[in-house]
Amino acid sequence: MQAENKILEDIKAVAAETAKTAKADKPAMEVKNLSFSYGKNKILKDVSFQIQDGQITTIMGANGSGKSTLFSLMTKNLYPRKGKIFLRGKNIQNLVLKDFARKVSIVHQYNTSSDDITVERMVSFGRTPHMKMMQGRSDEDERLIQWAMEVTNIEKYRNREASRLSGGQRQRVWIAMALAQNTKILFLDEPTTYLDIRYQIEILELVKKLNQEFGITIIMVLHDINQAIYFSDKVIGLKDGLVAVQGNPQDVISRESIKQLYGIELDVTQVEGKTFVLTV
Ligand SMILES: Nc1ncnc2c1ncn2[C@@H]1O[C@H](COP(=O)(O)OP(=O)(O)OP(=O)(O)O)[C@@H](O)[C@H]1O
Ligand SMILES: [Mg+2]
Repeated sequence: MQAENKILEDIKAVAAETAKTAKADKPAMEVKNLSFSYGKNKILKDVSFQIQDGQITTIMGANGSGKSTLFSLMTKNLYPRKGKIFLRGKNIQNLVLKDFARKVSIVHQYNTSSDDITVERMVSFGRTPHMKMMQGRSDEDERLIQWAMEVTNIEKYRNREASRLSGGQRQRVWIAMALAQNTKILFLDEPTTYLDIRYQIEILELVKKLNQEFGITIIMVLHDINQAIYFSDKVIGLKDGLVAVQGNPQDVISRESIKQLYGIELDVTQVEGKTFVLTV
């Protein structure tokens, strides 16, 4: 009897181990046959793709093609009408927001900050969003808030009012806030919009560093095609609610795919084995 129990225990242990391994094999996120409409206006139609761990994936597509809507769905800010979204094999609809927020953070395309809030306090919201604020911050909270401000280079503004910073400075405060959440998956909806070219490159280098040194899986929206090609492991192009282009940018970006996505013919050239689209 005892021997039998032992065998049962062993089987359970092996099964648990197998389940763990199987979970680790799942993509970081998966979107399966996702459709979404605002009223009668169909925005996403049967969209499917996978996000692999440790990669930088960039969503491309014309204005209004549904990129931000897709991000809202993937971060539980909106609920899918049809189809499913998985986080490491688990349907995100079955995850409570608090647990989900420990794994996934987002910097939205449009952000507003209230007056009288300092940069440091804003960043701390990423760490201690609600009740915990009252109970003070742990050492780990402090460490992450400090790290997030340093890595985004906003430490020097820590005591300034966030609403009085320039667009680019504020953009970095929002990124710091998401970083303080310390998640393995980070969504960035047009993180370079308000930035001059120097800060655009700085933010994209930061994104690369977060990805390569800290192993953060990045999913972002970028409008600059060349930056998307250069910084991404994978691009996903949306057109009329469908995934029109998907894959390694080096393989899928061409005169034809750009025309399909944006309705404009642009020359595509190779420089030292890398693809560039001539956007002027
Ligand atoms: N809350 C809403 N209610 C109704 N329609 C909406 C809402 N939000 C967005 N839309 C519409 O859904 C479509 C997709 O919008 P979305 O913001 O996802 O596009 P996008 O690809 O992010 O565009 P952009 O490049 O301009 O940021 C647009 O036609 C837009 O007008
Ligand atoms: Mg958008």
